Amino acid sequence: YDLWLRYRPLPADRASALAARAGAVETDEASDPTIAAAVAELQRALPSMTGGGPEQQGGVILIGTTRSRRIAALGLEPAGEDGFIIRDVTANGRRLLVIAGNRPVGALYGAFHFLRLVQQGPLPAKLDIAEKPRVKLRLLNHWDNLDRTVERGYSGQSIWDWWKLPTATDPRYTDYARANASLGINGAVLNNVNAKPDSLTPQWIAKAAKVADVLRPYGIRVYLSARWSAPVELKQTATADPLDPAVAAWWRAKADEIYRAIPDFGGFLVKANSEGQPGPQDYKRSHAEGANMLAAAVRPHGGIVMWRAFVYSEVDPDDRAKQAYSEFKPLDGKFADNVIVQVKNGAIDFQPREPFHPLFGAMPKTPLMLEVQITKEYLGFATHLAYLATMWAEVLEADTFARGKGSTVAKVIDGSLEGHALTGMAGVANIGSDRNWSGSIFDQANWYAFGRLAWNPDLTPVEIAREWAQQTFTPDPGFVDPTVAMMLESRQAVVDYMTPMGLAHLMATGHHYGPGPWVGDLARPEWNPTYYHRADKGGIGFDRTRSGSDAVAQYARPVARRFADRRTVGDDFLLWFHHVGWDERMASGRTLWEEMVARYDRGVAAVEGMNRRWAMLGPLIDKERADQIASFLVIQKEEAIWWRDASLAYFGSVSGRKLPAGVRPPA
Ligand code: GCU
Repeated sequence: YDLWLRYRPLPADRASALAARAGAVETDEASDPTIAAAVAELQRALPSMTGGGPEQQGGVILIGTTRSRRIAALGLEPAGEDGFIIRDVTANGRRLLVIAGNRPVGALYGAFHFLRLVQQGPLPAKLDIAEKPRVKLRLLNHWDNLDRTVERGYSGQSIWDWWKLPTATDPRYTDYARANASLGINGAVLNNVNAKPDSLTPQWIAKAAKVADVLRPYGIRVYLSARWSAPVELKQTATADPLDPAVAAWWRAKADEIYRAIPDFGGFLVKANSEGQPGPQDYKRSHAEGANMLAAAVRPHGGIVMWRAFVYSEVDPDDRAKQAYSEFKPLDGKFADNVIVQVKNGAIDFQPREPFHPLFGAMPKTPLMLEVQITKEYLGFATHLAYLATMWAEVLEADTFARGKGSTVAKVIDGSLEGHALTGMAGVANIGSDRNWSGSIFDQANWYAFGRLAWNPDLTPVEIAREWAQQTFTPDPGFVDPTVAMMLESRQAVVDYMTPMGLAHLMATGHHYGPGPWVGDLARPEWNPTYYHRADKGGIGFDRTRSGSDAVAQYARPVARRFADRRTVGDDFLLWFHHVGWDERMASGRTLWEEMVARYDRGVAAVEGMNRRWAMLGPLIDKERADQIASFLVIQKEEAIWWRDASLAYFGSVSGRKLPAGVRPPA
């Protein structure tokens, strides 16, 4: 339950060193709720770690903003709105550890950063740290329904206990806020993108307002997903046509009503004309016309609209991967300046591995935010261990070549490539009512990693994993090093046993758990695994080069050239972009069939290795968590075998190739 904020007692030498340095906490701004939250966090953590009451403790932390006289006198200059400084100083002969922000939230982030360092191991003799977030909107998207079910949630019910709100809140909301603030997450979309109109009724606005009140001191703003047709379904307008003045007036009045209840309401997230959701196209209006109408409604209050680019309609029936680009690229420059377009990391749907979305770099006049999925819809739900920072870093580092070499996705979404001030990163939350929040202990690491990457997209997966493991378990390198190594290889293992070599969307229908590459009879062609792998007697893979759907042409020239060429595309994306003969030779010297078999097997072997490794590591931590992790690794091993055997049995039957020894056909 405590996540990475465990604050367990330190060994005696470190405890006394900490007490000497940072025993008591002082501030001139205790009346500010955010500073009060920061002080409370330090006062919760420090005595717990040092083992002493405040009276025994020596050193003093001074925390606050540059508005405080004592901090201003030190001449510190934290950077940016949300940045902070942590520094040892001597003032009037007194040694102080100063944690300062320009705004209270900066000081709060500084306090959590300090506690992160303390939990990671001995502090350096002198601290001199200056940090600021690279991305402005660091948001969780909850796909939480109003009946407390969670779409693609594997960790219990929604944490939002709608029935009891607004009268009763839950201490969990505060702990949720603390965990998020410790990472710099500054916004939460409370309800599912597949939104219900009811979430905009006065009753639900009151509930959201109550949640907002709890989250506010932690610098977290509340946002809502808006259903496009809400005014019609609530029987308050005759149409949802964005150019109809009555519709615009309804949304203006609705925005005014929300802001009366939630003065710092962040704005709306919209999924429109996607997977059956209504949208402006129902009225022959564009995404931009729809987004801009909503943007006008929240503009007087400083709100924004996040308009999702996850659409697939009839525009490109030959290749779903092309549709978002085809619809959105022509709209570049047409969005109001308080609209940001939210783009998934890849063009299909949160697969274990996808090439970066071609929209990144392709809409220079429009702020784009990155959407990743923290909850593991396509990577084995809550039981399979898959550390996702490696996947997200792969996308963030990917070079779009939009403005020549070095135009990474990270630079697109932090605004530096095109000079946008409105920037953001959203993660589909994996948080629920489970005692461990995320369904498994290792899934907590994905929440953690999302927040850290949204703060600084250049952090590496290894440093994030290390920080997380040190705080969550123990700083002991004998535990941390092998655990981090296991985390770093875990996502590739999933890719190998589920969708190797650029394959995608082979999961069983609907729930997306377990293999289903043989499914080919679903109503929409692009829901069928057979649509994606296109396996036949001759070969396997989706030809997205000029001889096929030509999706490669949506990337900048150098990227398109690399993906289109069999010699340069690389094994990881081979079958994403090419249809390849079963007997063609791979870089390894094996035929494609042999290589696929080897990859599936490698995935299983990796999970077997994780099981063996955990047998040694588990005893180094508490039994309760060790046992749960061990049992989930057994599930993962059984299911990796299931994936490998079922997939190879099927592909073997299509290709006419023999199953290698040891691979069992499904019963
Ligand atoms: C996936 C997921 C849906 C979700 C959708 C979205 O398709 O399976 O449950 O609604 O993504 O991102 O909107």
